[in-house]
Amino acid sequence: MSREIHPAVVGAQPFQTAERGQFDGPIFKTKEGRLRLEMALTRYPDKRAALLPILHFVQEKKGWIETSDMEEVAEALEVTPAYVHSIVSFYTMYNQHPVGKHLIQVCTNISCHLNKGDEVLECFLEETDTRQGEISSDGEFTVIEAECLGACGFATVVQVNDRYLEGVTPENVSNILDELRAGSHKR
Ligand code: FES
Repeated sequence: MSREIHPAVVGAQPFQTAERGQFDGPIFKTKEGRLRLEMALTRYPDKRAALLPILHFVQEKKGWIETSDMEEVAEALEVTPAYVHSIVSFYTMYNQHPVGKHLIQVCTNISCHLNKGDEVLECFLEETDTRQGEISSDGEFTVIEAECLGACGFATVVQVNDRYLEGVTPENVSNILDELRAGSHKR
């Protein structure tokens, strides 16, 4: 494991910085997977209660959660795969399809709509040459429209993986993408 973490944040490591694709096989057969599972279980009265942070962990590492992951999580937490699937499909923050390295969610709800949120969305799609939900040809980006991201006073709000960009304008989009590609976008 690359860094020590407290059990309280076991499911909340920023997947912006995660090294993706580490788990081609079973997640909990790896050292890090086992450790993160054990840490999560120390936080809850029963295994089932650790489901959300464990799913966050899977997504942190893989970018999305596929059927085999759900089956593995179900076995580890002693619940049914159907139960895990019901949770993954209920919460929109869990990706059920592969996404690019940077998942860009553009808010177009009322406050952001009034501050050119729709134009910002169009700019991201144009600049990445994708339609919503697609992965760009370089594997870097997936762009989707989001409902209110809860930061309405800072419209237009864009979420890139686990972090928020505020006050985004159509004119900013190109620079943001360049910085993300270069890995230099400031937090
Ligand atoms: S309307 Fe965009 S963050 Fe609320």
